[in-house]
Amino acid sequence: MIVSTKLLFEHAYGKYAVGAYNINNAEQIMGLFRGCMDSKAPFIIQISKGARAYTDKRLLEAMIRAADEIFPDAIFAVHLDHGDEESCMDCINSGFYSSVMIDASAEPFEKNIEITKRVVDAAHAKGVAVEAELGKLGGVEEHVSVSEADAKLTDPAQVEEFVKRTGCDSLACAIGTSHGAYKFSGTQGLHFEVVEEIARRLPRFPLVMHGSSSVPQDEVRRINAAGGKLPGAKGVSESDISKAGKLGVTKINIDTDGRLVWCRVHREYFLEHPENFDLRPIGKVFMAEYAKYIAGKNEILGSAGQLDSVREFIKNAKG
Ligand code: G3H
Ligand code: 13P
Ligand code: ZN
Repeated sequence: MIVSTKLLFEHAYGKYAVGAYNINNAEQIMGLFRGCMDSKAPFIIQISKGARAYTDKRLLEAMIRAADEIFPDAIFAVHLDHGDEESCMDCINSGFYSSVMIDASAEPFEKNIEITKRVVDAAHAKGVAVEAELGKLGGVEEHVSVSEADAKLTDPAQVEEFVKRTGCDSLACAIGTSHGAYKFSGTQGLHFEVVEEIARRLPRFPLVMHGSSSVPQDEVRRINAAGGKLPGAKGVSESDISKAGKLGVTKINIDTDGRLVWCRVHREYFLEHPENFDLRPIGKVFMAEYAKYIAGKNEILGSAGQLDSVREFIKNAKG
């Protein structure tokens, strides 16, 4: 069942974080749903601009609708990840998305507010929630590459004004994470003092942590042993992830880890089965391994086991 992102956050706040997983294809969708059903967890399925353009956004949306039928017990929100104004408006008007992220974090403060507010006004008119971003994450995304030097932690002194003037429903904060497989390359670490101060200024306001892949070292080792080249890949520790969930971070974004599972499974499989060229046997292995990864991550986030309680909460909220 596709539900409101806001209700998922209300249920989770201060207790656990909801995993927001990026998907691009059918195998990722199946693995994600299976992993969340196995661990009895609510979740957010998120689609980036790049994912929408990879095959076709209509294909992804149709596959998600189909998964909703295949897994009738699943409870999840559908979210646009790192949208610009145009893609946000497209998703808002489609009627399919629970929430959109407007990422105007590269803009100066006033311009960020101006763009975010326009998206919020359009979104709220259609019952869609909006995630905005303040501060600038380091790392590489499809359309932006931010060097560590240009990355900028969220300034807690700005958050109240930003949320008040934009009307956004959740806030992505830069607290030292970065996108991709090479986090904390310099001396940085996670700045929990920034999260704590933001949560103090915005009581019960849902916060979002991007760049939260753990880049499991065993995954990296296996990829490199099977011919990959990911020297020094590093992520956010699992203990930091579960700590964030207790401090008011209700959404934890994970994409890179899913790509690493995909890479490891395919490298190892074709190395061990050089005679094979069929996509289905390996697709099955990937779906099972991705489901396993997701279920394990939901345990870390604390969302595992919350499904029945969330169902009840949403039923009562709807009256
Ligand atoms: O933060 C960005 C996500 O990892 C999405 O990546 O734009 O390559 O789909 P993508
Ligand atoms: P990772 O690159 O750490 O998986 O972060 C994903 C993300 O923030 C998606 O918005
Ligand atoms: Zn992100």
